[in-house]
Amino acid sequence: MKHTITLIPGDGIGPEIVAATVRVVEATGVDIEWETQILGAQAFEQVGTTLPDVTIESIRKNKVALKGPQMTPVGKGFTSVNVGLRKALDLYANVRPIKAMPNVKCRYPELDLVIVRENTEDLYAGLEHVVVPGVVESLKIITEKASTRIAKYAFEYARDNGRKKVTAVHKANIMKLSDGLFLDCFYNVAKEFPEIEADDKIIDNCCMQLVMRPEQFDVLVLENLYGDIVSDLCAGLIGGLGLAPGANIGELGAVFEAVHGSAPDIAGQGIANPTALILSAIQMLLHIGERGAAERLDRALLAVFADGEHITRDLGGTAKTNEFARAIEEKIVAERSAAA
Ligand code: NAI
Repeated sequence: MKHTITLIPGDGIGPEIVAATVRVVEATGVDIEWETQILGAQAFEQVGTTLPDVTIESIRKNKVALKGPQMTPVGKGFTSVNVGLRKALDLYANVRPIKAMPNVKCRYPELDLVIVRENTEDLYAGLEHVVVPGVVESLKIITEKASTRIAKYAFEYARDNGRKKVTAVHKANIMKLSDGLFLDCFYNVAKEFPEIEADDKIIDNCCMQLVMRPEQFDVLVLENLYGDIVSDLCAGLIGGLGLAPGANIGELGAVFEAVHGSAPDIAGQGIANPTALILSAIQMLLHIGERGAAERLDRALLAVFADGEHITRDLGGTAKTNEFARAIEEKIVAERSAAA
């Protein structure tokens, strides 16, 4: 089956890691027509807006996008491109699997958990104002609708992916109304999934537990801000941002992207690590029903890490982005010709 997918190369290292990812995805033999669109700084330079309507429309039409990181131009008047995109497409669930790779030095090589972050509200609603000079108010929005929807997503994800437990992370002991509502919604939804264990942790304790005994967690569900911070913490447990993939899922579409940003400090040097985006592309292949291609790519990626000969600089190796991609491509080609 042929798929049409919106492709957003992004800024900084974006075009380099997107090219590497497209190369290894295509090596699997999956039939994809890429519809290239722009966003972010590049879009602002070319068409005067960071979030062009044509890009949003392309994702609405195709329902799936693979996206490189964006740079939000610094300065007043520029809202975050990613927050804007998530709002425009109502991409309410941000799913971030945390799993270590073979041969990567990290604190928890066996770790395997999934973060489900609410993506549309909380302090990221961006509702801030000056009350009087020197006093600023920022509004935290938590709704029953969004809290129920994300809890449901987390339990469905757990059920569909053979996971055993979902933990809600909150600060309901202090924010009794807002985080209290989030927690109530979580336990209401939990009743519909008796086969999945449900528990909760206060955010500060949760951070300590993640560093000390992360194996106790399976799926974590969090409000937007906690989810943002805790997912970077978890990326640190398995070797850093270069290995952390993400999916933004909504009713109108799904956008797959790495957790990291555009890394302007190494852009254009051909040394960026495309692993996080390749892992995001594996999630994308599963989402569009291409399980065979997803598994082929996953096996090849793991095999390249297990060989340890083509590791990028951020993980202590010397391989360039394209050498790493070529090694994965060669594994896939070898597997496909052995099977033919
Ligand atoms: P960053 O994630 O771009 O970089 C942090 C550090 O990690 C840098 O030293 C960078 O070289 C390194 N790094 C990141 N990804 C890497 C990779 N794939 N391979 C090797 N090294 C990698 O975070 P930073 O510097 O805070 O943000 C830079 C820009 O990215 C900002 O404009 C920010 O707004 C944007 N950003 C975009 C995101 C997105 O589009 N989803 C997410 C986060 C930040």
